[in-house]
Amino acid sequence: MASKSVCFVLVTVLLAYYIYMPLPDNVEEKFKVMLLDATFRTLGHAGTLAELLGIKHYMDVMMLLTKLEHTEPISDEHVTVTDTSFNNVPVRLYVPKRQSEALRRAVIYIHGGGWCLGSAAMMPYDLLSRQTAQQLNALVVSINYRLAPIFHFPAQYDDVYTVVKFFLQHSILEKYSVDPSRIAVSGDSAGGNLATAVTLELLHDPEVKVKLKIQALIYPVLQTLDLNTPSYRENGNMPILSRTLMVRFWSEYFTTDKKLFDAMFTNRHMTSQEAHLFKFVNWSTLLPDSLKKHHIYHKPQYGDSSFVKKYPAILDTRVSPLLTEDDKLKGLPLTYVITCMYDVLRDDGFMYVSRLRQAGVQVIHHHYDSTFHGILLLNTLPFDLEIAHHITAKYLEWLGNNL
Ligand SMILES: *[C@@H]1O[C@H](CO)[C@@H](O)[C@H](O)[C@H]1NC(C)=O
Repeated sequence: MASKSVCFVLVTVLLAYYIYMPLPDNVEEKFKVMLLDATFRTLGHAGTLAELLGIKHYMDVMMLLTKLEHTEPISDEHVTVTDTSFNNVPVRLYVPKRQSEALRRAVIYIHGGGWCLGSAAMMPYDLLSRQTAQQLNALVVSINYRLAPIFHFPAQYDDVYTVVKFFLQHSILEKYSVDPSRIAVSGDSAGGNLATAVTLELLHDPEVKVKLKIQALIYPVLQTLDLNTPSYRENGNMPILSRTLMVRFWSEYFTTDKKLFDAMFTNRHMTSQEAHLFKFVNWSTLLPDSLKKHHIYHKPQYGDSSFVKKYPAILDTRVSPLLTEDDKLKGLPLTYVITCMYDVLRDDGFMYVSRLRQAGVQVIHHHYDSTFHGILLLNTLPFDLEIAHHITAKYLEWLGNNL
């Protein structure tokens, strides 16, 4: 009996120790956040173990969550939902049922997941797309692009660009009663990366006549060059997206070869040959003082081995949109950016906002100082957070007023 109680206490203490993580004071609903993070961490540990034992790729295990949260395309009283494909790339379409004489608006949505995970059919994305379609009376095209590690860059990008280009044809817009002057592209995290890249590419594509009205970038990933910005340094162990996982996503975008991961992890994946590019991600000039705080800007640290030669995509502006020259940023559409304080990617977003404003692009930047990466996904039970509903509502309100 006594030994049972001892066991019980021990297990409880260990469990509490496992679940507990120090969180910044202003993070709300701390217990839920800790449980959520512990769930994520457990999945990550399982992935690491499976990989160590040679059973499965790390990302195959991480994909479990995407699979668990899979939803069928089920229409409701407001929106007709169907899975189809645009030019052979699978998309999930949300068509509002409300009849109207006027043409509709449209949002092309690109889900996140580090180019390795996620799907338009995941519960949180499916819900967001329904809400977008219903509240804006807009058509939503949510893209299911190919994922790493099976497919590396440029598969993800190509799929997204294919869909966008297909959709922006007059005949297709007409078919869906979409107003060609009221189309947005939007995406979160790696989807924000793809949305940024596609919007840039469209500016200079002579084959596309229809122009996007808005790009909405939700805590986007924007550069491969410096994986030690103040936000990477401060938020390496914050919920959902650790620095290790982000570096893993980055390296898997190009290759499963662990050497690239190791070099990126120590931020020595560039050589002095790339020195001239660091001005584009110089956080000492591009971040506000409030974020620079006590951080000291050092000269980049260079490695010996040229990963850029092996994987030139690392410096492709379709991968690292922050490496785009100033004059190529001019003419971008109205841009909406969300950043979160406790996110390794926070400074990518802030730096892009600075660069865009310097180039004369109109930017609306909503920075949330009490939350972390991936927050928009936390809109469904059992892990839904108040702040997720709040940020989603603000985002949809802004889109509704501006698209
Ligand atoms: C970054 O900006 C600082 C000025 O704040 C400058 O001293 C430094 O040389 C810059 N570094 C690069 C690589 O552009």
